[in-house]
Amino acid sequence: MDSKNPIIKIVNLTKRFGTVVALEDINFEIEEGKITAILGPSGSGKSVLVKLILGLMRPTKGEIIYKGKNIFSLSEEELYEVRKDFSMLLQDGALFDSMTVEENLVFPLKIRKAKKEEIKDKVDFYLRSVGLEGFERRYPSQLSGGQRRRVALARALITEPQIIILDEPTTGLDPITTESIENLILSIKEKNKEKTFILITHDPFSAFKLADNIAVLFFGKLIYYGSKDEVVERMNSDKTIFHIFKRANLKIAQTST
Ligand SMILES: Nc1ncnc2c1ncn2[C@@H]1O[C@H](COP(=O)(O)OP(=O)(O)O)[C@@H](O)[C@H]1O
Ligand SMILES: [Mg+2]
Repeated sequence: MDSKNPIIKIVNLTKRFGTVVALEDINFEIEEGKITAILGPSGSGKSVLVKLILGLMRPTKGEIIYKGKNIFSLSEEELYEVRKDFSMLLQDGALFDSMTVEENLVFPLKIRKAKKEEIKDKVDFYLRSVGLEGFERRYPSQLSGGQRRRVALARALITEPQIIILDEPTTGLDPITTESIENLILSIKEKNKEKTFILITHDPFSAFKLADNIAVLFFGKLIYYGSKDEVVERMNSDKTIFHIFKRANLKIAQTST
């Protein structure tokens, strides 16, 4: 599938660690203003791909083109600027436990030397947009798992990045909380049509629910890439793959609780 409006192009990307092939000759484009899921069972190379996109790791071969430039040919200063366009919601939320909700949100703004007034407005706005007004003074230990993800989501949004990477945003949550976080992501996307989301997930149901486009990684290989409808159709005609995903899912669900 050729995307209409690619913001990131992944070209012949290969990453090996010794004899381990984490990614093998990957080619696809991430469309601007869409949610692209990178779907694959554990060990498929999803995290390695994200590290490469952020320029935190060098590939064995290949390029990642962002705004017309290869990430791997940028200087450290240029890379630093590029990373400001990105925000990442880490797998477990990764909040600072010794900081209140408010301090967690203020932190990335202070790094960017935002003004006091702006900080206050943004904290209020983003706490409200994840449904947590009134939670400013709480510590992460005083929040439920779902509330912690909401804070992490607010923290990823507060710097107003162009591209938001969500790494397993619902892993370890119960089904009802999972659904509420997924719905929140969809409503945030609806209000931020120009923003690009990259959803890292091992859960096909989550990818089908949230994504416009899906890249299916299977132990380092890109086995499908296309619009959600195309991928759903191909998965339905290839039950083996879907079955493997379901099994991978069950395993992860059992170990993460
Ligand atoms: N720093 C590393 N050194 C060696 N092998 C690695 C390293 N990082 C990842 N790998 C290997 O690359 C493969 C893909 O890993 P990863 O991207 O973390 O998978 P996923 O995020 O899809 O679970 C795995 O086989 C993993 O063991
Ligand atoms: Mg991973």
